[in-house]
Amino acid sequence: MRKETKHILVANSKGGCGKTTIAINLTVALALKGERVTLLDHDPQGSCRHWTAARSPEMEPVLVKNASAPSVEVSRLVDHETDVSIIDTARGPGMDAAFNELIKLSDVILVPMLSSALDIRAGERFITDLMTNRLFRAKPRPLGIICNRVSGDTACYQKLVHFLRCLDLPIIAQFRESPVYARAVEEGLGIMEMTNNRAARKEYSAWHKLMEWIDHAPSATTSPLPLAAGKRARAVPSAGVTPSATNQR
Ligand SMILES: Nc1ncnc2c1ncn2[C@@H]1O[C@H](COP(=O)(O)OP(=O)(O)OP(=O)(O)O)[C@@H](O)[C@H]1O
Ligand SMILES: [Mg+2]
Repeated sequence: MRKETKHILVANSKGGCGKTTIAINLTVALALKGERVTLLDHDPQGSCRHWTAARSPEMEPVLVKNASAPSVEVSRLVDHETDVSIIDTARGPGMDAAFNELIKLSDVILVPMLSSALDIRAGERFITDLMTNRLFRAKPRPLGIICNRVSGDTACYQKLVHFLRCLDLPIIAQFRESPVYARAVEEGLGIMEMTNNRAARKEYSAWHKLMEWIDHAPSATTSPLPLAAGKRARAVPSAGVTPSATNQR
């Protein structure tokens, strides 16, 4: 029996945190594992479509579809042959009707975050909105945080870790600050295809960790979240808190 398509939503209303970079690299990583992947570009900027245009035909084939037109019903873009769909979302709009459609479709949600005070504050708002979203609460999906562009154990990074710990949200992967990510996108590649590149190889264990988490993520539960979960999200200290112990899992 064919398994159902797993829909992975990559989202954070804060711009520039790495949604597209992560969606593209995850697409390639899963395709190399033998999964049939469709990358759904829900961002009118069309970055995934630009990336695929730069991709050489000799590389692992990946299917990229434009999901950004307002009239498009995103679920209809994915055929039954697809094992995994990855949805790259736009910055900004937050919980509007189009985003609600994506939440409804998703089985797993990945939230990339950077560790500056502004990013933490924006991420805090986004995660709170998500955890209090009616559709999310009715059927909670596994929600994993990806710390992106990490460059050492800085005070800012400690604040991010502390914030996530308060929400009991797992950091499922950390990607280093590295120019290899921009280079890969420019060349139409995923870093998992750059096996001769030392900086790319340094990242592989983090990517394997992310894929393992996705593989083992429990399916969305149909039992609604208790009200307290949303309240707890609001009660979290803001980005200005003093850093405390780390929460490396
Ligand atoms: N781990 C990383 N190391 C270094 N640069 C990175 C990393 N991840 C992303 N970048 C760079 O950060 C910039 C923003 O990344 P990206 O476009 O993926 O973010 P985004 O969240 O999709 O942005 P938008 O909200 O505009 O869609 C790009 O220049 C990208 O190359
Ligand atoms: Mg983007």
